[in-house]
Amino acid sequence: MEQRIPLIFSLPFFLLLLFQCTKTLAQPPATAPSGPTNITRILEKAGQFTTFIRLLQITLLGDQIDTQLNNSNQGLTVFAPTDNAFSSLKTGTLNSLTNQDKVALVQFHVLPTFLSMSQFQTVSNPLRTQAGDTRNGEFPLNVTTSGNQVNISTGVDDATLGNTVYTDNQLAVYQVDKVLLPWSIFGPPSPAPAPVTGGTENKKANSAAATDSPADSSGVTGDAVPGAVAFGVALFGIFYL
Ligand SMILES: *[C@@H]1O[C@H](CO)[C@@H](O)[C@H](O)[C@H]1NC(C)=O
Ligand SMILES: *[C@@H]1O[C@H](CO)[C@@H](O)[C@H](O)[C@H]1NC(C)=O
Repeated sequence: MEQRIPLIFSLPFFLLLLFQCTKTLAQPPATAPSGPTNITRILEKAGQFTTFIRLLQITLLGDQIDTQLNNSNQGLTVFAPTDNAFSSLKTGTLNSLTNQDKVALVQFHVLPTFLSMSQFQTVSNPLRTQAGDTRNGEFPLNVTTSGNQVNISTGVDDATLGNTVYTDNQLAVYQVDKVLLPWSIFGPPSPAPAPVTGGTENKKANSAAATDSPADSSGVTGDAVPGAVAFGVALFGIFYL
């Protein structure tokens, strides 16, 4: 048995080697001999990251990460959720996201700096991700540590840092056991605007109302659709009783 295992792998390995050789020969000799870092290849090699790889591909952020690594001297840190992490999400979670949300979700798993495992002990919260805004309600990410354990909190869920999948002092890839769900996409919807109560509000309310007005109008259109659906469902129910 032990003798046969290497044999099983030898053909694919040989083909891969052949492929790599022909590829190398076909390329102009000017390219770096070691080859640029490729996040997709790193994750493929590690296994159990197929969903995250797919997200990196459809959002084109995988390529962007590789390019950034070539052009940055700060490096990058990637939190890679396992396939188990994705399958423990509520069914349809990913499908319900717009492309823009998918981009933000992946960006939320990337820090624009290299962080070694020990640097997590001293980082200050909230961490800035490539999704941007760290304010509460946007894309905050907090780290808590206890001994060697590192937890990451988004305000919606908490993940624990697992194995170091890859590190080369420029790129660090850590396994995480949960998909990091940004508040801005997965947090509870902002509370409905307060109803107008007449002319008794104080002057402070005026400035608050001014900043709230964009949210007001989007709230109205947002509510109109479920209302119409509920009415339709009710009608449907009446007809089929
Ligand atoms: C990290 O999360 C685990 C599981 O949720 C929890 O048991 C542990 O106490 C947390 N540790 C820290 C440092 O927050
Ligand atoms: C992160 O920590 C800051 C204080 O350090 C706190 O104000 C904020 O609410 C925390 N956010 C999350 C998402 O845990």
